[in-house]
Amino acid sequence: MKQIEDRVAVVTGAGSGIGKALAMGFAREHANVVLADVQEDALEAAVSDVRATGAQAIGVLTDVTDSDSVARLSSLTLDHFGAVHILCNNAGVGGGGFIKNQQLVDWKWVIDVSLWGVIHGIHHFLPELMKAEESHVVSTASVAGLMAVPGLAPYNAAKYGVVAIMETLHHEMERDPDSDVGVSVLCPGTVRTNIATAQRNRPDELKRSKKNVDLAETRAPEEARKRNAAIAAMLEGGMDPDHVAQKVIDAMIDNQFWILSHPQHLEEINHRNQELANLENPTLISTFGE
Ligand SMILES: NC(=O)c1ccc[n+]([C@@H]2O[C@H](COP(=O)([O-])OP(=O)(O)OC[C@H]3O[C@@H](n4cnc5c(N)ncnc54)[C@H](O)[C@@H]3O)[C@@H](O)[C@H]2O)c1
Repeated sequence: MKQIEDRVAVVTGAGSGIGKALAMGFAREHANVVLADVQEDALEAAVSDVRATGAQAIGVLTDVTDSDSVARLSSLTLDHFGAVHILCNNAGVGGGGFIKNQQLVDWKWVIDVSLWGVIHGIHHFLPELMKAEESHVVSTASVAGLMAVPGLAPYNAAKYGVVAIMETLHHEMERDPDSDVGVSVLCPGTVRTNIATAQRNRPDELKRSKKNVDLAETRAPEEARKRNAAIAAMLEGGMDPDHVAQKVIDAMIDNQFWILSHPQHLEEINHRNQELANLENPTLISTFGE
């Protein structure tokens, strides 16, 4: 995209973390911003912060797991601003735990938000993005979409899926003579956000039921507590979300597909890809997510 000013940017998961930083970044570039989130109080606060920059902004309470809700986000965007030029499919949740201890509700919640949220966004917004003179769609995956570390299987599966969808969309848009839609995928390492408390927005029907709560957790609450504290400390030391947002905006202007905000992970990703090229069994040199 050559121009951000006066464009209409939609950001999901805009109430917190990377999404809020993206919304603020677009506002500083004088775009009109549509903020979408499932958490109402956080959404309202983010909208008022964005408006305080002088930018035009609306907030739309949206559950990205629900196709009708994302369709409504698209139609309210068009009603209010008349067009859409930038879509950031950013909402995502994650939870830890080994596959042997996962319940089906763990898989369903993470994949519903982090993978289906992206599918719904593309499905409901792509026709409008293709109509625009120039437009861009970026989805937030993770380095966990480029290498699979233990303890994050539903998250890894969702993020590998996001990378695959965006790579496919990139090829398709490149070959489409009728559109000028740029495509990027954001694959961050650790960022200082509220993702460690993602459970705050987990729907009741997908909560782990007491009778199914995994034995490892109940037998070893101290281990679970230590693991959560380690994750919180790791996030606290993570990259400032404003830096990530700036990298996204720069990549959109440069029409750059891969946004690897944490290049230090390239060695681990290359290690994984080299083993694949050599048909060697995977070994781990990464500690991301552990
Ligand atoms: N923080 C990191 O270290 C990190 C690393 C790699 C990738 N990511 C990805 O970045 C994205 C943003 O996460 P974050 O780290 O800023 O976390 P965050 O928790 O600070 O923000 C996520 C936002 O998504 C919203 N959300 C949750 N479920 C939703 C739903 N069903 N519909 C709409 N909104 C919903 C939350 O309310 C929240 O405002 C996610 O896709 C995450 O997987 C984060």
